[in-house]
Amino acid sequence: MPDVNYDESNVPDYTLPDPLLRDDGTIIKTIDAWESEQRPHLLSIFEEQIYGQAPPLPDTIDRTSHVVEHIVFDALGVRRQITVPLLNSESSPTMLMSLYLPVGAFAPVDIFLGLNFNGNHSLEPDDSILISSGWERHNSDDEIGRGAKASLWSLEQILSRGYGLATIYHADITTDLKDGYDGNIFSYFYKDGQTQPEPNQWGAIGAWAWGLRRAMDYLLTHESSVNRIMLMGHSRLGKAALWAGVQDDRCALAVSNNSGCMGAALSRRAFGETVEAINTNWSRWLCKDFHQYNGKESDLPIDQHTLITLMAPRPVYIASAEDDLWADPYGEFLGGYHANLVYHLYGKEGLTATEQPILNQPSMGTIGYHIRTGEHDVTAFDWQCYLDFADYHLRT
Ligand code: GCU
Repeated sequence: MPDVNYDESNVPDYTLPDPLLRDDGTIIKTIDAWESEQRPHLLSIFEEQIYGQAPPLPDTIDRTSHVVEHIVFDALGVRRQITVPLLNSESSPTMLMSLYLPVGAFAPVDIFLGLNFNGNHSLEPDDSILISSGWERHNSDDEIGRGAKASLWSLEQILSRGYGLATIYHADITTDLKDGYDGNIFSYFYKDGQTQPEPNQWGAIGAWAWGLRRAMDYLLTHESSVNRIMLMGHSRLGKAALWAGVQDDRCALAVSNNSGCMGAALSRRAFGETVEAINTNWSRWLCKDFHQYNGKESDLPIDQHTLITLMAPRPVYIASAEDDLWADPYGEFLGGYHANLVYHLYGKEGLTATEQPILNQPSMGTIGYHIRTGEHDVTAFDWQCYLDFADYHLRT
């Protein structure tokens, strides 16, 4: 594999595919033509060649969920723990959701929904948080680490601003083990003799996105205290949040935190993580057919700005970190910036900054963006920006 490029002067010349250009060379000029022709066409490219086709979601959530409720953070919020079946069969795997809601809200609240890396119990040092079956399956020899990742979720800040949060351990849907196709959601859809998805079928990012959509099914049909849902994810789980958001218009707003390659960052820049690097190091995240683009970013029929256009006209926030060069902060900015064409078609402002903003200065258009000081992480400052962005779009 070529050396990693961190030098702006070595970024190759590239031309981005125009999301409004039809294959026959004509230009999409109306929202109707975008929604009826071009958007479905571009979405199918991501489905067929990149994240892979996922099976349809079950129509209903039939089995009763097991719910435990606690008051948390000195009565700032309530935490409900709910077991959500991924499928409707008796033997279905389940995901354990922690749903935090602010106490004292008079109407259903808008919530963030995101997968976590280390288990729901990593958000709070509290023994009442249940350990999910996915965590037991994959980490039973590890330290439990209650509260070890609390700083990534800023729960008190979220609740005190009147928003909720729902979170699920990502491996309740599929583990991140390199060859982990067994005992995961994939295996429930295999035909006889199949041991892994077909080359055009879902990878792990597709499966996580599917799980997020299943979680939305649950929240929007069984939780009367939940109003709108904002998908939020960090890094690999930010890639999944974006992919879930573009597929599902029940996602009112999406937040990509340091999502990098195959998230918000342009692939053609080949800065930091490349298509070849992601497919080599994380061979089951994208579909197998996507591996044909290793070292051939310019052959891609889309780039990641196209993914952001599929969120239009809904708000999207893209966040970078100064020291997170592997995720290509400038490429993440450009991924948002070049989505503007489609936001403008809707009469929306898109990303208003024409240059990458200076450090720690958010730009808040329909597409929000900031680059903060520090590393690949989620910080209280990041959350403050997401909450301001949610206020701006959902409360004014
Ligand atoms: C690796 C991977 C990235 C990913 C990151 C993460 O660095 O190469 O694509 O975003 O892990 O999920 O933290």
